[in-house]
Amino acid sequence: MKILSCYSIKGGVGKTALAVNLAFALGEAGHRTLLLDLDPQGAASFYFRVDGADKFRMRDKQSLAEGLRRNIRESDYPGLDVVPSHLGYRHFDILLDGMSKRRSQLRRVLEEFKADYDVILIDCPPNITLLSENVFRASDAILVPVIPTVLSRRTLEQLAGFFKDQDLPAKLLRPFFSMVQKRSKMHREIMEELPAEQAGFLKTAIPFSADVEKMGLHRMPLLAYARACEAAKAYRALCQEILSESGL
Ligand SMILES: Nc1ncnc2c1ncn2[C@@H]1O[C@H](COP(=O)(O)OP(=O)(O)O)[C@@H](O)[C@H]1O
Ligand SMILES: [Mg+2]
Repeated sequence: MKILSCYSIKGGVGKTALAVNLAFALGEAGHRTLLLDLDPQGAASFYFRVDGADKFRMRDKQSLAEGLRRNIRESDYPGLDVVPSHLGYRHFDILLDGMSKRRSQLRRVLEEFKADYDVILIDCPPNITLLSENVFRASDAILVPVIPTVLSRRTLEQLAGFFKDQDLPAKLLRPFFSMVQKRSKMHREIMEELPAEQAGFLKTAIPFSADVEKMGLHRMPLLAYARACEAAKAYRALCQEILSESGL
């Protein structure tokens, strides 16, 4: 089982759009996939039309694993289950803080799902907390959408700096360009420069596309309602690139 997370310190960069479309593509490719929506805003759960998770106690590792398992929902798509978001996740940090091995509890909890899934995909909230540190230590790869702008570039540098400070393996970080506008000179320049400075960039970039924004209207992954559009092709290519590198 591989654990992949969609993460950035920054909001609005395309984490959820990636999580939703990658989850769909993985399921479609025959991988038993569980999408874990850890963002209390619940956008991924909304796109998959699943209700918020039922209340459950998050007292220790066991109750957390049981609560997540009870909240697994079948999606409308083959091979894909979803654990919807829960407002209680806002207490995650307090819970984790009170546990021993507080930075690696999520990995231990998710190990319990090993027999049931080939991939667990985590859609993360945009911050850097104890929960994020758990996500980093649980993940086999951390997929980081980067809009080719100055601020996104800075955020990626901050994340890489955090990994260095915490002795986390830099190779876990797999940034890729998101919401790319080829007509923008700044986008083109940053896309040329940044992969030389920051290792691990995935080759596939996701273009800016009004088709992606319509996910909110359709409440479906883009790949389910506009399979042939340019952005859908890019998500499929990104999925293939991730699959071929993760040994799945
Ligand atoms: N490639 C894209 N082209 C155009 N709009 C996009 C694209 N990716 C995401 N969006 C839109 O941008 C907004 C933020 O995307 P989202 O995936 O929710 O970001 P995050 O999860 O990082 O906060 C949403 O309204 C989404 O529909
Ligand atoms: Mg999101």
